[in-house]
This record gives sequence, structure tokens and C-alpha cells, in this order.
Amino acid sequence: MQKKLILLVLMGISAMQLSAQGKSMDDFIDRLMAKMTLDEKIGQLNLQVAGDITTGGNQNTQVEGLIAGGNMGGVFNLKGTDKIRALQEIAVKRSRMGIPLLIGMDVIHGYETIFPIPLAMSCSWNTAAVEQSARIAAKEASADGINWVYSPMVDISVDARWGRVAEGNGEDPYLGSEMARAYIRGYQGDLSHKDEVMACVKHYALYGAVEAGRDYNTVDMSHLRMYNQYFPPYLAAAQAGAGSFMSSFNLVDGEHATANHWLLTEVLRNQWHFNGFVVTDYGSIGEMTNHGFGNLKHNAALALNAGTDMDMCSQGFLNTLAQSAQDGTVDMQTIDRACRRILEAKYKLGLFADPYKYCDAKRRAKDIFTPENRLAARELAEQTFVLLKNNRQLLPLKKQGKIALIGPLANDRANIAGTWCVAYTPERYATIKESMERAVMGKAQVLYAQGCNLTRDPALQKAAEFGKSIPRGDDEQMKAEALRIAGEADVIVCAMGECADMSGESSSRATLEMPDVQRELLMELCKTGKPVVLLNFSGRPTVLTWEQEHLDAIMNVWFAGSEAGDAICDVLFGVKSPSGKLTMTFPQNIGQVPIYYNHLNTGRPVPEGAKEYRKYQSNYLEIRNDPLYPFGYGLSYTSFQYGDIMLQGRTASVTVTNTGDYDADEIVQLYIQDLVASISRPIKELKGFQRIHLNRGESTTVSFEITDDMLKFYNARLDHVWEPGDFKIMIGGNSRDVKNVTLHLE
Ligand code: NOJ
Repeated sequence: MQKKLILLVLMGISAMQLSAQGKSMDDFIDRLMAKMTLDEKIGQLNLQVAGDITTGGNQNTQVEGLIAGGNMGGVFNLKGTDKIRALQEIAVKRSRMGIPLLIGMDVIHGYETIFPIPLAMSCSWNTAAVEQSARIAAKEASADGINWVYSPMVDISVDARWGRVAEGNGEDPYLGSEMARAYIRGYQGDLSHKDEVMACVKHYALYGAVEAGRDYNTVDMSHLRMYNQYFPPYLAAAQAGAGSFMSSFNLVDGEHATANHWLLTEVLRNQWHFNGFVVTDYGSIGEMTNHGFGNLKHNAALALNAGTDMDMCSQGFLNTLAQSAQDGTVDMQTIDRACRRILEAKYKLGLFADPYKYCDAKRRAKDIFTPENRLAARELAEQTFVLLKNNRQLLPLKKQGKIALIGPLANDRANIAGTWCVAYTPERYATIKESMERAVMGKAQVLYAQGCNLTRDPALQKAAEFGKSIPRGDDEQMKAEALRIAGEADVIVCAMGECADMSGESSSRATLEMPDVQRELLMELCKTGKPVVLLNFSGRPTVLTWEQEHLDAIMNVWFAGSEAGDAICDVLFGVKSPSGKLTMTFPQNIGQVPIYYNHLNTGRPVPEGAKEYRKYQSNYLEIRNDPLYPFGYGLSYTSFQYGDIMLQGRTASVTVTNTGDYDADEIVQLYIQDLVASISRPIKELKGFQRIHLNRGESTTVSFEITDDMLKFYNARLDHVWEPGDFKIMIGGNSRDVKNVTLHLE
């Protein structure tokens, strides 16, 4: 046998490749595993950072040695078909079993063509476009050798302090589930093609509920809340056929998510029928010691027994499982089970049939950063901008006169694409200034000044920039220059807010207001009496209460990806009307956080819009309960009028009319409240939405069929039921401004 293997390896063909043809997956894996040693099986459960194998060095020799020794199931953070082919060759030709590697990467919002950050994409409410973004990301990443992406991130979060809200789909379980499905479809297709990759749903579970919004912090939550509010997007992703899940860093019911049998086996596999594999997050098994669970060997065994299949970067499985198998802490079947799941993933990806399926060097030139991909990114970016204020229809701007473009993000190409850009090439992106000059060429003049630093605090600037620096200068001098050009201009456009890495992993914030010097400059600019537009950059809801009061127009542009500059100018100058709607509530003050629209009632509720403090009611002394901008909110250059809801049986319809001067898209939203139930139910929950296009003057009727599923919730026994009675049906253009009727169902 050994001789035959060596022969095949010399021929560059593994035994697995040959026998992969025409065999059923189970047969194939049975036969493969029958030949594997315990160490080789454990090797499949080990995942590490690849390092750059072309640069040499210790780490690389170590990685190569581990692969050749059959001690590695996959690597991540490596790109380029030549480098990846070299590693696959080591796995296929030099390891005894010749099993190819999973090649992972944090492809989060596009690859070289970068789409807006996921939170922004969710504000398009355009699941087809989000699916297409994942399709394009899969195509580009796979053309660079990658077969497994650590996306989608589907963690619900209601806390804007948590920087990772940038990577998710906001606060709503229904929208989050729709988006989760779209990403899975886009990445995976049916996994049969060279340009489809395996998705990894993260971070299972509840990572978005870290206390005080501080990253990596503790979570503690009732099961009712898990099932009704936080679990739905994970469930949707499992049902959509996601190939893998990543466990989260946090505790769930006092146990680590990575070693929680209830979470990983009873819920994920037994209740949701997930049949892929579970990988830990980076170093989680090692971190369990800090949580107080014991040593690495103990924690690795706990994790495996709970249902974790692959260990990212702790080397806990690699270095301790053999001993645990010997002393009986884990049994062979459990190791076999995990190994089988990893091999199944490789089989589904077609790696046994062709380990070099993703190593086609010719694809790069035709599949990556193509004009079509970039156009898709630009068009989607345009749908993600949320117009928050537009006094006296200042926007769209006319291409005339002098436009003062001011702010630390105005001529920046390092930050506009956002957090998590693993294949980013900023030298190819246009800054807003460049795009604007192109857009108005021959018609208007752009005057530019940076105006100020990102912040006065160098420590914050350093922590936040993470390699994507904005040039620092003297604030007073920069301000003087900004005021000079503002004085000459007809209108002032400010590109301000957060830099890219003020959101994302390890970027929790304790304040959400515009950074110090930027706010001060805004104040000075307002004093000029010229109209001021703010393009607000943010990876999260920020507090814009002062800006709402003093500025003429505000558009949240998030971080819009590689095509941000052109997309922003298209909307700013009215080539397109803004159509994004918020998927996270914007607070008026950080003291309101966590704040979310689908909350439960209290026994002492204060009506929406109440103007004054009410003693012995549920409110604050200083501010009212209402958010600054509610969930689902976003203005357009046109106006839409909603008729009353017509109810026929279970069909609720409204007529929507474009009553303004622009052809535009609107997102029609359906909310439901279960008025009397066995557990307290939210005051409203999104249950449907439709993105429609209406030319000016045009009307259309939008209908929603109220299904049982829309009425269901998990009751006190965690049964998924709906209870007969009265339901308030609400339809509108945001979660606050809705028409409503009551539907009685027996
Ligand atoms: C840690 C992050 O939490 C996770 O989202 C990411 O996929 C891994 N690191 C791998 O980079």
C-alpha cells in the first residue's frame, strides 16, 4: 500500500484524487479514514495562519513541516494561486495521505473589488444585490486560490459601541436572516464550480451582545431572547446550507461558546440540522484558560466533545488530543466525527477530485477587479447611503459655482473602503475629491482643504488608524485654510466622521460623537452662513444630534468600498436618489444605548414622540426615549405618500405614490405586533419589505400576505407557535411612520 501511495505521489496524483471519481462521499471518506492514523485524523482538525511561504523564515518552515507531516487541515491568510498551489503540492505530494488543504480568508465585503461594509450593504435592503456582492467576492477570492471565506457575520447587535456592528446586518432578526441567506447563496452556489467557495457563518453565538459593547466581553442572555431575537440569522444560514460555522469568543450560559454542547450540538445540529463543520475563532481554545476553565488539554477535550471540529490557531487539538484519546478524556468516535466533517467539506468543495481546482493562474486577469465587478460595487454602494437630513432640498447639489470640499476623509483613499479589506489596493481607488473633480468638470469648481486632523488625541488616532493613516498637520493652520476656501464657496461639503478602523474588530468606542476637532471645525463652518452638507463616515450608528440641529444636509455614507468616491458623487449630484434605510437605530445620546426599535413594552410606557419628562414613567430625566433616527429611516430626493392599509383576508396592501420630483426607489416595510400573547411581545417587528421603483407621479399597490410564519414566536417552552387573537399590522417607509390596521385571527 505504502509503495502504491509513493508511486502515485511521485506522479503528482494522490490516491484520493483517483478514488474520488465516481464514489459516493460516505464511501470515499470511509475508505480514506480507514487508512488514516490517529495523528493524521487529528491533523485534519488543525488550522493555522499560513504565513507567506515565498518569504521563508521560521514560521513558514514550521507550517510546511506541519503540512508535510499531515498535521494541518487548512491554512488561512494566504493569497495568490502560485503560493497556494505550492502549499497544496506539499499537502498532496508530500504528506502520506495526500489530503488537500482548506484555504481560508476573511473575505468580508468583497475581495479586490470592495463592496461597502456589511452594515452599509444591509441598508440597501437589496438581498439580490447583496447576493451578487457575495457572488463577485467568491469569484475574485477563488481566482486568487481561496476556497473558504469567513463570512457572513450574522450577529445581531443593538449596541453601537461594539465596533463589529460594521461587519453585520444591524439589529433586526428578520432582515438579518434574509441577508444571511443571500450571502450563503452568493458565496456557495452549489459548490460545484471553480468560482464558488465555502461560507463560514460567524460568530456562533450571541457575540453581538457583549456587555457594554466592549469587544470580547461577557454575554448573558435568556433562552427566550436567544431564540426570538439573536438566533434567527444563524438558523437561516444553517437552513440555507452553509458549509461551516465559526464559534464565538464569548460565553453562552456560563460556558464558552466553543465548548458548549447545548449550543453546538443540541441546537445547531439536532434542532437546526446543520451538517457542516464548526471551526473555533482565533485562539478560542487557548483563551478558555483565561475564562477560568482550566488548561489547554482539558479545554481542547471540552471543545471537541461539545461539537467543535476544527481548532483555529490554539494548537490545542494538535498537541493534546492524542493524549486525551489515550487517557479516555475523548473517544475515538468523537475524533473520527470531527475528522469526517472536515473531509466532507473538502469533498464538497471538489478538492479530492482536483486539489488545484482553485489554483488556476489564468483566472486572476479575467475575474478580479473587472469593470463589471466594479460597476456592481458602485451601484450597490449608491443604494447604501442613508440621507438623514435635507433641509430645503439642498441636495442634490447642482454642478455649478464653487464647492468647498473639506475634511480628513475628503481626499483619502486608505480609509474609504472600510475595515477588513484583505486584498485592498487603495492606489486604485478614487478619493472623493478626485471623483468630484471628474463629476463637475467644466461646470463647477472644487476647492479642497483637509481642514483638521481625524482627532486632536494622537493616542486615539494611533489606535484607530491601524496602518491606514490620514496625514497629520497643524489643526489651526488647517482650519484657517478651510475657512478661507469656505468663504469663497457657494456650498460646503464636509467628509468627516470615523476612519476605517474606528469600527470593526477590537474597535469598541465609549463615545459616539463626531471626534473633537472635526466637530469644532463644523461649528466654525456653520458660522460662515453657507449651506453645509455632511457626508458622515461611520462603521456604526454615531450620535449626530448636534449635526442634525445645525447642518443643512447629512448623508451617512459608511465606508462604501473601492468605488466609494464615484458612488458618493453620483448620489450627491443627483444621478441617483438616495434610497438606503437604517438597519440600526441612531441614538440621540450614548446613554440610550442599547437602543432598538423592536423592544418590549414596559408597564409604564411613554408614548413615542412624547416631548417632556414624565415622572414615574419609563424615561430619562435629561432626554426623551425616541432615537434621533429610527430603524428603517432614510430620506429620498423625492417624497412618497402612503395610502391607508387595505386588508382582504390575510392580504395587507397599501398604495404608495411618488409625489416628488425625482424617479426613485423606496423600501416599503411591514411591521406586526402581537397585541395579546402568552409572553410579552415586541411593540413591532419587521416581517416583510419590498424595494420598489417609482417614477415621479407614479403609484403602485404593494401587498404583503400575512403568513403563519410571520406571526410565530418562541413561547415560554420554546415552542415555535402563533397564538390566535389581534395583530396590529403596520406598513410604512420606516419603523416610526406607519399606517396601521388590526387583523383578528382565530
Ligand atoms: C478573529 C475574528 O473574530 C474572526 O471574525 C475572524 O474570522 C478570525 N479572527 C480570523 O481572522
